[in-house]
Amino acid sequence: MRTVDIIMKKRSGEVLSAEELQFIIEGYVQGTIPDYQVSALLMAIFFRGMNAAETAALTSLMLNSGDVMNLAGIPGPFVDKHSTGGVGDKISLPLAPIVAACGARVPMMSGRALGHTGGTLDKLESIPGYFTNLSLEQFREGLVHEGFSMTGQTSRVVPADKKLYALRDVTGTVESIPLITASILSKKVAEGAESLVFDVKSGPGAFMKTYEDARALAQSLVSTGTAMGKKVVAVITDMSQPLGNKVGNFFEIEESLDCLEGKGPEDVMSLTYRLGAWMLVASGIADTVAEGERRCAEAVASGKAMELFLKNIRRQGGDVEKMLALRGKFRSPHAQELTAPENGRISFIDAWKIGVAGVYLGVGRNTTEDPVYPDVGFIFEKKAGDMVKKGERIAMVYSKDDESLIPAMELARSSVKIETSLGRQTGKPGSGPASLILEEITAS
Ligand code: URA
Repeated sequence: MRTVDIIMKKRSGEVLSAEELQFIIEGYVQGTIPDYQVSALLMAIFFRGMNAAETAALTSLMLNSGDVMNLAGIPGPFVDKHSTGGVGDKISLPLAPIVAACGARVPMMSGRALGHTGGTLDKLESIPGYFTNLSLEQFREGLVHEGFSMTGQTSRVVPADKKLYALRDVTGTVESIPLITASILSKKVAEGAESLVFDVKSGPGAFMKTYEDARALAQSLVSTGTAMGKKVVAVITDMSQPLGNKVGNFFEIEESLDCLEGKGPEDVMSLTYRLGAWMLVASGIADTVAEGERRCAEAVASGKAMELFLKNIRRQGGDVEKMLALRGKFRSPHAQELTAPENGRISFIDAWKIGVAGVYLGVGRNTTEDPVYPDVGFIFEKKAGDMVKKGERIAMVYSKDDESLIPAMELARSSVKIETSLGRQTGKPGSGPASLILEEITAS
């Protein structure tokens, strides 16, 4: 086999065989096929696409390029949730203990903040002492005792994706549905979950900006995951404005604690229960989504989910007493108010701009080496749909330093659109808070 023939085959829109894909993936991981040839193939895939069989074969090959989590001996069912990334999306934090409290086990491998989206690992590490680089033994212990563990990916999990994703990043080939599907699914299957629920975000603050693209990705994740023998559900959710009232690493820990006390913001509570319900249905614990939602709410009301969350924090080195003492007080002194420029109704808060502003503030990072800060970000007091008076506070904005507040505030101000009583709007039109859940896709 010759790499150039495989590139030309895909360039002319033909279907690649599993053997051809195997030749490429193995050669690339072993270093016998150079970046420039794989770049050309990725671009051909970007333009020509891949059918379901090719996507499933690529996913399996990527999965088998590294270690698969060994959960043998631990009773299941194992289920996980993956979000395609958003702003203020802290759902994984309350969700894992809630679902564990209902009897499932959640082997959660998460990522870090990159670009405008936040990362679960950075949020967890804002808890004093909390560590996320678990050994396999530590990961298994958490699953046995609390029903969930929170870790990052080691370099031995799906090494093919590490190389391919880095190459896609610099060759303009990230936004390809089959490549995204193989990248996400290979990593999720490697962590040992039998059922998977995907929260596919759609809107300005999401990776998939349009509903059509989000839907295509959701369908691809469901069909490919199902072909790999997993139970898969995808929920397409709106990411126009930030999720919840807080954006920031420790700020989102605070909102997760609120959620586990049953008093989180309505959008965070309802999405957590909905995704949790699908996880319980997919893993066979609940018969219907309504029953699943009820069981998730009971896990919160009984305090069981909070108990598991605090136990997990202790197990992973976190100082619960310090965290609780910092709650509501851990705020950078470099702060400013975001106020309403005129009277009216907030029609839109652009999640993408808030996410990018968050990078200036120190919530997120531009490159994987940038530091992030625990006590910075946004605390919103008003969201889309709320009435405001000129000069009234919409959010408090906290920054790592005064200098970074300048570009962050500029972006934050431009993210807010106000509809005046006369129907006049500042900036881009919006029509208030959209329904959060746009569509739910199952294999049947
Ligand atoms: N997230 C991933 O893990 N992979 C992609 O390709 C895109 C988003």
